[in-house]
Amino acid sequence: MKAFGDEDDGRAGSLSDINIWGRILRYSTRHWPALTSAVLLSFFVTGGTLALPALLQHGIDGFITATNLDGAARLAGLASTSLWYGLLVLLVFGTTFVQTIVLEWIGQTIMHRIRQDLFAHILRLDLQFFNDHPTGRLVTRLTNDIQNMYEMFTSVMVTLFNEMVRLLAIIVLLFLMNVELALLMTIFVPVSALVTILFARLARAGFRAIRRQLVRLNSFLQEAISGMTILQLFGREGKSLREFEDLSHGYLERTLSQIRLFGTFMPITEFMSSLATALILWYGGGEILRSRLTLGELVAFISYMRLFFQPLRELSQKYSIVQSAMASAERIFQLLDTGSRIAEPDRPIARPAVIRGELRFDKVRFSYDQHQPVLHDLSLTLRPGQAVALVGTTGSGKTTLVNLLLRFYEPQAGSITIDGIDIARFALADLRTIVGVILQDVLILQDSLLANIVMNSGRSRQEVEAILARTGMARFVGRLPLGLDTLIGEGGHELSSGEKQLLAFARVLCRAPAILVLDEATAAIDTESENILEEAIADSFRGRTSLVIAHRLSTIRRADHIIAMRHGRIVEQGSHDELMAAGGYYAELVAMDRHNGNGE
Ligand SMILES: Nc1ncnc2c1ncn2[C@@H]1O[C@H](COP(=O)(O)OP(=O)(O)O)[C@@H](O)[C@H]1O
Ligand SMILES: [Mg+2]
Repeated sequence: MKAFGDEDDGRAGSLSDINIWGRILRYSTRHWPALTSAVLLSFFVTGGTLALPALLQHGIDGFITATNLDGAARLAGLASTSLWYGLLVLLVFGTTFVQTIVLEWIGQTIMHRIRQDLFAHILRLDLQFFNDHPTGRLVTRLTNDIQNMYEMFTSVMVTLFNEMVRLLAIIVLLFLMNVELALLMTIFVPVSALVTILFARLARAGFRAIRRQLVRLNSFLQEAISGMTILQLFGREGKSLREFEDLSHGYLERTLSQIRLFGTFMPITEFMSSLATALILWYGGGEILRSRLTLGELVAFISYMRLFFQPLRELSQKYSIVQSAMASAERIFQLLDTGSRIAEPDRPIARPAVIRGELRFDKVRFSYDQHQPVLHDLSLTLRPGQAVALVGTTGSGKTTLVNLLLRFYEPQAGSITIDGIDIARFALADLRTIVGVILQDVLILQDSLLANIVMNSGRSRQEVEAILARTGMARFVGRLPLGLDTLIGEGGHELSSGEKQLLAFARVLCRAPAILVLDEATAAIDTESENILEEAIADSFRGRTSLVIAHRLSTIRRADHIIAMRHGRIVEQGSHDELMAAGGYYAELVAMDRHNGNGE
């Protein structure tokens, strides 16, 4: 059940999807006063626009061709009509301006809301979801799709509404003015309707192609940029550049063909509008000669007719925007409806005041993709305060255990308990303070060292200083130019990987976890930091259950108990001496480790 696969990304939405309109409307309802005023303003704009040809008619029939009036009166009348005309134009202009501002404001505010909702939703999703959906596509959701919807909200909704009202009003006016001329003009209506529908079809297909290509382009870029190190390391720049060139060229071609389509359609409607004008001029002119029509009426009629074709053109153009917006809206709502597979418990149990720290995995079975099993009915128990080391070759499932313990993923069978309580019964936030994890990669925020240590643990500066002093980590802070106030992260002071590990330690200790997990945390540490870290580790193990996953077997000396894992199964456990004496898998690992020069 993929919420949005590749094939969906280029599709256009269905205009008739009531569901989507309903949800868009729900986002708009809180802005009903603004929306109502925009609609009222729209009637005003339409009325003003349609009064202009009437004024033209009034000027021509009332004064220009009115031979019964004297010259001065005709000039005066013309002057006042022109003045009214000018004023009306100004008024329409002003009203349109206000209407645009109001609608843009509504659009932006709604998009802001949706963006917030969407990101808040993504933050709650389980990691499995991110495995299934490429980052590039999610970013597209948050940027392009929202922009698409926004365009519909503002430019399209306004024009759509304005133009519909205007079209209807013009048709009524034309028939009221002169039925014969109006009937003559309707010859063109089926033709334009046909052309418009055809155009909309083609535009939609073109749009889909553009969008699909854009998604490809974005995903490619995302991959290339996030994997730049590997890319450069393996000298794949040239190949990547060529691939990108292909993708980008594909995008260019699709865009150009869309432009050609628009370029053809626009002149066609212009042509039809002119043809209609010619026909009306010929027939209407004859009617004037036969004294059945005034010159003013003919001019007004032609003006209305021009006004009639203009919205037609815009409507068909906007149609494709609406379609793409509907598709975007659909995808956004789908994402919003995607539930997290890691559910917060309905009624989480209160965080126990004292946690002894007994950790038990009971017949835990897990696979990332439902096919390849990663953990096979794995059971292990850590007694309160016990320091257990977990060893095993890469890919044996050590990190997976940690992922399950933190509920980043849910086991397919079996249970994980802390002090006998299933971890699924804790609130996620509680669970993640009960279990503290130090990973090899340390996330550094662009902020002061203090802020990086505190994160959201709520510790004060004094408390942090006390923790640092107790664990000997104050020495590491002392080495930095501004101590705790040193700016780190992008553009700030560069920490060595050892120092980053120390930071991670301080960060976890701030949260006083009952259970501490180190996943390959000390793998890439420099000897300078190692001494400090030794002390920090010793301190943090005191009174805590700890699980140390290590590649370098020298770092697991402190463990009371060693568990050796292989292909998702526990193959051996015992103390270092016992396992060495047994001469099994563990002894083999140690021998390999010594061989690689990591020995003590
Ligand atoms: N996010 C993931 N999606 C799919 N498979 C994964 C994922 N993470 C790890 N695996 C697979 O699960 C197995 C165990 O990985 P892992 O727990 O990281 O091993 P270890 O930490 O012992 O090196 C490996 O075969 C790995 O390829
Ligand atoms: Mg690992």
